[in-house]
This record gives sequence, C-alpha cells and structure tokens, in this order.
Amino acid sequence: MASGGAEEERVRREVGEEDDEDDEDDERPQLSAAAAGALREFLEQQLRERDEGGEGEEGGGVELVTEDWRLSQFWYDERTARELAEEVARLASGLATGAAAVACVACPTLYAYLKKSNPDVSAQLLEYDERFGQYGSDFTFYDYNQPEALPPSMKHAYRIVVADPPYLSKECLEKVAKTVSFLAPPEGSFLLLLTGQVQKDRALELLNMRPCRFKPQHSNKLGNEFRLFTNYDPADRLGGWEHTDGSHI
Ligand SMILES: C[S@@+](CC[C@H](N)C(=O)[O-])C[C@H]1O[C@@H](n2cnc3c(N)ncnc32)[C@H](O)[C@@H]1O
Repeated sequence: MASGGAEEERVRREVGEEDDEDDEDDERPQLSAAAAGALREFLEQQLRERDEGGEGEEGGGVELVTEDWRLSQFWYDERTARELAEEVARLASGLATGAAAVACVACPTLYAYLKKSNPDVSAQLLEYDERFGQYGSDFTFYDYNQPEALPPSMKHAYRIVVADPPYLSKECLEKVAKTVSFLAPPEGSFLLLLTGQVQKDRALELLNMRPCRFKPQHSNKLGNEFRLFTNYDPADRLGGWEHTDGSHI
C-alpha cells in the first residue's frame, strides 16, 4: 500500500503544487492549472495501479488486460484466482503426464495465474476477446454462440475443464455446456463452473455439478452472488460441496 503522506507529497511535487520556499524553484517551468490537474490524475492512477499490482507480487504478479464490461469481463480477485489455480494444478498433478490438459473457457484470469504458478501445466484459453492472442498458441478464439466451432484436435482432449460463461442466461449455460461436452472425453473430466447462484438448478441438470462452499470474488464487487460448481466433491478443499442443509457432509 502507498504510504499516504509521502506519496501525496510526491504527487504534489510532480505537479508543482508544493509550497516552494526556494527561489530556484521559481525558474522551473510551471504547468497550467489544467495540465497540472491532468498530470495529478495520471500520477495518482499510476500509484493506485502500482499499489494494486504490488499486492499481487507475492508468488509472481500477474498482468491482466483492462476489463471490458461490454464483453461482460469481471476479473477474479487475487485470492480467488490463486485458489482456483491451486486446485486446478492439484488436479493436474494427480493425472498421468500428457493426460492433464486444462481447458480454460472464458476465464483468462485463471489461465494467467495457473501458467504463472505452474508453467508446466498444459492449458488452453478459449476466449472471445482477441487481446488474449498475446498467449500465442495457448489462445483459441471462442464464441459461445457456436459452441462446437473449435479445432477438431480439441475434441475430448481435456481432463480438466473450467468455464465462466459471460452471461447468466439459460441459453448461455446450455451452449457452454455443449462446449464442455465437446472438450471433455467420454470417460469423464474434472469440471469446474463459475457462475451465478441463479444457475444452480441448471448446473445440476446440464452438467451434474454442485455448488462448493468457496465463494468466488471479483476485483470489482458484483451485485450477483457467484458460486463455484464442480462435478466432484473437493472435500477438504474449496470448502467442499455445500449440501442442501448447508452442512459439509
Ligand atoms: C464473466 S467473465 C469471466 C472472467 C473470469 N471471471 C476471469 O476473471 O477470468 C466472461 C468472459 O467471457 C468472455 N466473453 C464475452 N463474450 C463472449 C462470447 N460471445 N463467447 C465467449 N466468451 C465471451 C469475456 O471476454 C470474459 O472473459
């Protein structure tokens, strides 16, 4: 976190707002009030970003593109991203090498944290936002409206599939469920779905997934309650499955 007073002083100095008692400073170029205001805003933004990024440095900071709300982009907060990445890495480590491929469907933050903490895990990001082309061959363009318009090599190739659909509608979950079935082999996969509580019955009906007690959180707080659904009981991790009476067992 910024040390309030010192950082405030730095911004004031940069924009030339400090009380100069030194005559030499009078010769310094002075900014117009409008330019000083713009510079102040810019520097304060930089400090905020540095402070937010600073907290993410533990275990390696992860750089994310700016959220585009028109694409329903809401990034996980750091704790959520780390816990999910840890769970996925743990699942992958229990599978035979070569069989442990992970598909991250519309969850770029998870992909980024997973690759940062476990670069050897084989992971593919399926995303609509072409900015994630920065991940090279790990990126595959994906539009949920065409749930199976994917390279044939991806069919039944993922033993771990994580999906975070862009919308909370029935139609969107039905289509994403088709994608999940396309990616997962018939013998089964570990499936993790992040979506609103409102999708609970559909998650069970379409994908046989149940909510965990772990509650995903986002960097920008959302009005809807979000849940993590899985098709396996993570037991002592992620709070385990929540049972209808709210208990662990
Ligand atoms: C609710 S966000 C999930 C992001 C996740 N919380 C994270 O932090 O990684 C939904 C994602 O769906 C993507 N998206 C938007 N429109 C899409 C579409 N038509 N098809 C597939 N994905 C789409 C967005 O780019 C966004 O990354």
